[in-house]
Formats: sequence, structure tokens, C-alpha cells
Amino acid sequence: MSADPKKAADAIRPLLKGLAPKIAIVLGSGLGGIAETIADARVLPYAEIPGFPVSKVQGHSSRLIAGKIAGVDAIVLQGRAHVYEGADASQIKTPIRALKTLGVEKLLLTNAAGSFHPSSDEGSLLLIEDHISWAGWSPLQGPNDDEWGPRFVALTDAYDPKMRAVLKAQAAKLGIALPEGIYAWYLGPNFETPAEIRALRGLGADIVGMSTVPEVIVARHCGLRVATISAVTNLAAGMRSNQHLSHDHTQSIAKLCAEKLDRLIPAALPDLVGA
Ligand code: HPA
Repeated sequence: MSADPKKAADAIRPLLKGLAPKIAIVLGSGLGGIAETIADARVLPYAEIPGFPVSKVQGHSSRLIAGKIAGVDAIVLQGRAHVYEGADASQIKTPIRALKTLGVEKLLLTNAAGSFHPSSDEGSLLLIEDHISWAGWSPLQGPNDDEWGPRFVALTDAYDPKMRAVLKAQAAKLGIALPEGIYAWYLGPNFETPAEIRALRGLGADIVGMSTVPEVIVARHCGLRVATISAVTNLAAGMRSNQHLSHDHTQSIAKLCAEKLDRLIPAALPDLVGA
């Protein structure tokens, strides 16, 4: 059964008193630092929002926070649905469409990813330019919800060029390296094999992760503009000898990335809203 995003929006609306957020930020695994710096913060656990997914993955808090970041009204989603946890299309769609119902126009997503981009080592950030949906699944399959968007949605420039330009300019000002690259969505929850990483490199991807693409598809379907920053928490499987990939490692390196995101996002937010 598909949850009604409007009911979710109704549960969130009282939290927004005095705020009119035009931008929302989704924080990935271990990247929640900015949530602690929100001014005038109002917090609602996902468990209290109909149809919102409660993640069991360590590092995902599953709560919505509304408030101000660098003086900009914003909604922060701390935690997201993962298809590898068994999330269905409805759990991906409901939060994004609830944001749309509440007047949000732009979405800034963050995630953790493994890199095979030549200049992106662990601890660095990468701006997603485009994606490859290696998982081969779309949250829009099945009957189209005409109320939200068209049956066939174009994904050219899905990662908004103007928002990307703002993020690159701010990163340059702050001295934070932010190369652009192609994100491959791998379903997970197992990490990839080295052979799969070689295949993804051959396909033209630069980094790989287990999230984000379904949200981007749903966001573009309902007309939200999107940008995504990946936190490179490791080199992908087979890229470094003696490397053992684990969620603990992802989380410890995510802290280094979070420190950069916590500087970049507030600095970019005023221009992002205007972009
Ligand atoms: N692969 C997939 N997802 C990830 C990785 C990875 O190497 N690192 C962090 N998330």
C-alpha cells in the first residue's frame, strides 16, 4: 500500500511555523554533523511521519529537522530508505513528495561512496555530474502517479547545472577539492566485487554507492531540482591491496568528509537557494 505524501506533509507542517523552506538536505551515513548546527531547530522522528522509512542502519538517525542554516530556512532529512533494507518504492517516494507538497523546490543529497576516480581518495568529496543505475530498478515502475509527474521522465541534467556551479564555486573559495564524477548505483547491501568495479570503470562510472539514485529519479519526476555530493569513504573493492571494506570503516572516514560538508553546505546554501 502506497502511503499518501500529503498525510506525511500534514504531519510535518506544524513544525514549519514561521519557516518557508525552499530547500531540503538529505544526510547520508555518518554525515549528520550539520544537523547539530541548525538554528531554531524543530525535530520530528520519522516514526511520527506516516509513510516515512525508519532505517535500521547504524549512522542513520531517521529524523526530520526544520530550522535555519546560515540564515536559510531548510528541512534536513537525517536518514533515508535503502532498497537493500527492503524499502519499497513508496518509502522512497513519500518523503520526496511530502517535501514537494510543503513547497520545497530544491534537494541537496549527500551519500557515502567508494571511489575509483583517479583524484578522489578516501576522505574527499565528489560532486555527482550524472549517474548510472546499475541496480536496474526504478521507483517509478508500475502505474504512473499522474498527480506527481509524467509517465516518462527525462533525466538529462538531472543533477542541476546551476546548483552544481554554486557548489563548485563555494568549494573553491573554501579550498575544498570537489571534482565532478559519475555515480553508479549498486543495490547492495554487499559491497561490490573487484570484477564488478572493473566493469563499472569500463562503463564510465567514477564512484559507487548504494543509495541516492532512486531519490533523484522521484525528485526529478515531481520537478524538484537536485544536487548530490558524495563523501568518498573508501577506494572501491580491488583498488587497494589488503583493503577490507566494512561499514565501520565507512563511518570512521565519513567523519573526515562530514567536517568538509559541514563547512561547504552552510557556505553554499544562500546561493543554492537563489540558483
Ligand atoms: N560501495 C558501495 N557503497 C559504498 C561504498 C562502496 O565501496 N562505500 C560507501 N558506500
